[in-house]
Amino acid sequence: MKRGKFIVLEGIDGSGTTTQSTRLAEALERKGHRAHPTREPSTGLVGRFLREILASGRRVEEAPDYKTMALLFAADRADHCAIEIAPRLAEGEVVISDRYLLSSIVYQSATSAVPEEAAEFVRAVNRGALVPDLTVVVDIDPRVAKARRTARGGAPELYEVDELQGRLASLYLDAERLLSEHPIVHLRGEGSVEDVTAELLAHVERVIGLGEGSPA
Ligand code: TYD
Repeated sequence: MKRGKFIVLEGIDGSGTTTQSTRLAEALERKGHRAHPTREPSTGLVGRFLREILASGRRVEEAPDYKTMALLFAADRADHCAIEIAPRLAEGEVVISDRYLLSSIVYQSATSAVPEEAAEFVRAVNRGALVPDLTVVVDIDPRVAKARRTARGGAPELYEVDELQGRLASLYLDAERLLSEHPIVHLRGEGSVEDVTAELLAHVERVIGLGEGSPA
């Protein structure tokens, strides 16, 4: 059995990665691939604990510090890879994760006092984590993302603070420098849902095609 492909979608809150990961999986299935959408925090025990923290109504300063959060996200990632991602890749599926390691680097460093040191800490505790075949960063104007979060309703989660979201958007623009060993592409997320899916699909099909020995 040929190993599948591991695709990651990244972006600030409201950038559309959750919608797009489902749509991408559906589009790939229609084209005859087996695709599995998943997300971090995962649905495993550590992931559920993280979601409790995210939805607890605490402010960032009242939540566990960036090191504690980075360790919890890294533990969830190890669990997610072992239980869900690796077995499906071994079955030849395309696994699409809504968030992965780049989220840890961006969010945990942005909520630390010394972002460069924090990024190094995050990279260190994630050493050995599965490297995605492609990470797609959906860049978006934080004001557009905020309008979408407001339209969606519900109480804001831990990191859904305007000033922080602006800094996260800038860090995402710098993704290649923050995570130089992972293949990364960027696309703009302000367009229609259909246009973003089409662009995403084109990037992902190129990666799937490479594995099948098609001409470049
Ligand atoms: P999100 O992806 O918005 O999920 P949902 O829409 O289901 O609530 O929430 C996850 C939050 O966790 C988001 O604000 C980013 C943050 N996060 C980190 O800070 N570090 C990480 O490593 C990951 C995976 C997520």
